[in-house]
Amino acid sequence: MKTILMNRNQYNVLLILIMVLCFLGCVTNKKSGSQMEVMKEISVDQRVDSLLAKMTLEEKVGQMNLYNGFWDVTGPTPQGGSAKLKYEHLKKGWVGAMLNIRGVENVKEVQRIAVEETRLGIPLLIGFDVIHGYKTLSPIPLAESASWDLEAIRNSARVAATEASAAGINWTFAPMVDISRDPRWGRVMEGGGEDPYLGSKIAKARVLGFQGNDLTKNNTIAACAKHFAAYGFSEAGKEYNTVDIGTSTLYNTVLPPFKAAADSGVKTFMNSFNELNGVPVTGSEFLQRDILKGAWDFDGFVVSDWASINEIIFWGHAKDKRQAAIIAARAGSDLDMEGHVYIQELVQLVQEGVVQESIIDDAVRRILKVKFELGLFDNPYTYCDETNEKENIGHTKHHEAVLDVAKKSIVLLKNQGNLLPLQKEGQKIALIGPLAADKNSPLGSWRIASDDHTAVSVLEGMQQYTGNTLTHHKGVELVVGNTAFIEEVQINTTNRTGIDEAVAAAQTVDVVVMVLGEHGFQSGEGRSRTHLDLPGLQQELLEAVYAVNQNIVLVLNNGRPLAIEWATEHIPAIVEGWQLGTQSGNAIAQVLYGDYNPSGKLPMTFPRNVGQIPIYYNYKSTGRPVDTNDNVFWSHYTDVDNTPLYPFGHGLSYTTFQYSNFKVHGTEFKIGDTIKVTVDVTNTGDYDGKEVVQLYIRDLFGSITRPVRELKGFELVSLKKGETKTIEFKLSNKELGFFNNQGEYIVEAGDFEVFVGGSSITSLQSSFTLK
Ligand code: NOJ
Repeated sequence: MKTILMNRNQYNVLLILIMVLCFLGCVTNKKSGSQMEVMKEISVDQRVDSLLAKMTLEEKVGQMNLYNGFWDVTGPTPQGGSAKLKYEHLKKGWVGAMLNIRGVENVKEVQRIAVEETRLGIPLLIGFDVIHGYKTLSPIPLAESASWDLEAIRNSARVAATEASAAGINWTFAPMVDISRDPRWGRVMEGGGEDPYLGSKIAKARVLGFQGNDLTKNNTIAACAKHFAAYGFSEAGKEYNTVDIGTSTLYNTVLPPFKAAADSGVKTFMNSFNELNGVPVTGSEFLQRDILKGAWDFDGFVVSDWASINEIIFWGHAKDKRQAAIIAARAGSDLDMEGHVYIQELVQLVQEGVVQESIIDDAVRRILKVKFELGLFDNPYTYCDETNEKENIGHTKHHEAVLDVAKKSIVLLKNQGNLLPLQKEGQKIALIGPLAADKNSPLGSWRIASDDHTAVSVLEGMQQYTGNTLTHHKGVELVVGNTAFIEEVQINTTNRTGIDEAVAAAQTVDVVVMVLGEHGFQSGEGRSRTHLDLPGLQQELLEAVYAVNQNIVLVLNNGRPLAIEWATEHIPAIVEGWQLGTQSGNAIAQVLYGDYNPSGKLPMTFPRNVGQIPIYYNYKSTGRPVDTNDNVFWSHYTDVDNTPLYPFGHGLSYTTFQYSNFKVHGTEFKIGDTIKVTVDVTNTGDYDGKEVVQLYIRDLFGSITRPVRELKGFELVSLKKGETKTIEFKLSNKELGFFNNQGEYIVEAGDFEVFVGGSSITSLQSSFTLK
């Protein structure tokens, strides 16, 4: 952007000229070349201001109103929200954004009404839950996070943005950056796992993937960091529940990925359904005004979650819609998602002087700014190109991209006796399990625009390998009846037909591959569970097969960590295959046959049982961390070990890696120094492979107690057989400090331990002192 120097009078004249041009442009929506050039010369803020100056109060409040489309419901429709009313509001310019309208033809039509039939012609934001793809699906976000491959994650968001934008969408409600330590909460499938450091890197990768480096392009869309904040800490993992956490957890664990998203230029935030320490977060001034728009200086807008302004009433924090509107608007919730509260209440509240018009102006400025930044005022139909839609959605290159990230997301949990990879010839293999031939469940939850039953199943993937004899037996059904995004999944707990056949087949083969786990719709929004074992009759099937053939490879399909203690004790090979999206079965087959050497690492701890939850790697030591007196008075359970089933960062490979020459370059440093840490990693096995080299620190004494380990660096490194690489990490203030209970970031002198290795329980340790 050129800088133009002018005196105040010249500036005013230009501003008036621009306002006139802008007005003409908005009304006719046709701009001449020179008009466009002049407009580009002025900043977005100036364009916003000049438009705002022309808006009536009703039009301003209209911009703060987001309506669901007339189809595809993703939540309860609030009473009074009828299609006719929405349509009328749209024509009056009382709608700023819509969600769940997709496809160029549909988007074009609502955009046309907004731009051509309303007084000011302000284009709409068209939002959609593009969570892990649009039509072509990537792995669910939790799975993708297991790749620790930021480039792959970014590319996956890029693919999603390319397809969604081709369908007319200009705004995604992603990424979800909620840290969670509770796999009972079904929404862990949408996030980056339990760790704020990894979560921050992933948040950045996803924001950059969706938004690209030029938001005005027709294949980049505005991203939305959600759910601000602390939704992942819902009590007992129960959806929409109370959250009561301390300041330290809020600042050090919950907020960092949101901050990373803000620093990466994310254009929007979504608040959430939970309360935080007694205040529904949609009405939290502390979160939205003080932290987000204050301390972080975020200049985009905040959208409420679906009718979460109304929910302030049900939380018992507002007595009616009027009060809910006052609380939410003052708190900084700029856009009301399908709550109809702002559109019903705000005009009068401003007229009565209860809500200041400056609050409305601030919200509208933020919303308009994003519209300008998307280029919607220059061309409201940027995202409405039928050719683009036809050519881009479901493109082969997108299938290749999602296959790539799907393979990278798979985690090899166990491989006793190197049962994997499977031999490619001369083997008899029985493929057993309700998910083995399933083409729907691997698509996971949150895939509103994709077609049902379009995933490549494990059966189809394995059939590509023709050197073995492969038979398929379902064993048991997992679900009863149909499954749908908005309905409870019915699990089969009675019908055992098929177990005998599967057991008979298992008896005569060399290897059994069993595909078991959760249905894709058992995780996601509204899908909290209290049992985390294999649902239905699958455990029974597994044990029955095991009784006749122990050569079992268990492929898990699930949207959250599972408590599979029996399987871990008995089954020799376990592959975490998540819900990997469209190319699921191909990715799994390529890993099973060794055409891809698994490199994924768990982004979330697997518990031994539900009673251990919350269990996470970066816990606090407690005052009684170990059993020193051979009695019961230390921090433990009497009926289960303190260790998890699989720790954060765990994941095996078909090759082996050895770590050597681990060095912290120095023993004493000053606060502010950069500390160099190096380690040699050698591929000592028989396959080329990739390792996620992880670095953890422990700050031994702090004014706020510090976790026993904190991830502070990682590198995904490819190593050929026999190859060694030196990996270097740098530790500086950014990694060594923490937030105190006043929310200030501080670095304290003291002793630190450093750990490097292939998981969070690595024992390779060194230390240094910070003076
Ligand atoms: C509710 C969910 O919590 C949120 O994540 C989603 O974006 C909205 N519904 C819109 O579908």
